[in-house]
Amino acid sequence: MVQCATNRVRVVILISGRGTNMQALVRAVQDEHLPVEIVAVLSNRADAGGLAWAQTQGLQTQVLSHRDHDSRTAFDAALQARLSELAPDFILLAGFMRVLGPELTHHFAGRIINIHPSLLPAFPGLHTHAQALAQGVQWHGCSVHFVTPILDHGPIIAQGVIPVLANDTPDTLAARLLPVEHAIYAQVLRWLAQGSIRLLADGRVEIPGQPHRAWLETGLYPQEHHELT
Ligand code: GAR
Repeated sequence: MVQCATNRVRVVILISGRGTNMQALVRAVQDEHLPVEIVAVLSNRADAGGLAWAQTQGLQTQVLSHRDHDSRTAFDAALQARLSELAPDFILLAGFMRVLGPELTHHFAGRIINIHPSLLPAFPGLHTHAQALAQGVQWHGCSVHFVTPILDHGPIIAQGVIPVLANDTPDTLAARLLPVEHAIYAQVLRWLAQGSIRLLADGRVEIPGQPHRAWLETGLYPQEHHELT
């Protein structure tokens, strides 16, 4: 999949909560004048904190509450219709805490991207930081990936990695990981704006000139610190 770099890439951002990843995406567009049009920020919760911030940035916000629909299928159908009206090139899930069903994910195949707070395929679902601590893994992280019908699964575009320290709690892990999430999601948006992300037939992602798409937490790796450019 290659976008034409001369056109503005239309994105819709979906949130359910405070929206710090959404803010990182919006700031990247604003500060770097990326050729990206944020068509709308849409939430399934009217009380999502991120909506107010998006409004301060002059962005269109919309609410589509899952509570107004009798079933997941009905909500998905309404969301699919709403998204189709907005005609995005890409749908960026930024803390959107609803599982999307097969019809919607097939309809927008290769165009829905999610950030998940674990090194997928490890620890899909909720409470990823507690899962990491319970398993005793020494490395933890976050993944930006294309969405498929399988929850927290799909072609990985970029990952961010942090060490698990001896005294970490789920909260300290989450706090150290969050800036890494922001960094890799903003980088993925730059690649989308450049039209450089290719989804291969075998289900992997390729980005010319980016053989290794990982972000290691700054400062802890004096010998080798990969920075995405
Ligand atoms: C982020 O940590 C994101 O990775 C996670 O929710 C948080 C949202 O924070 N997403 C998921 O768990 C999706 N499975 P934010 O609202 O501040 O961006």
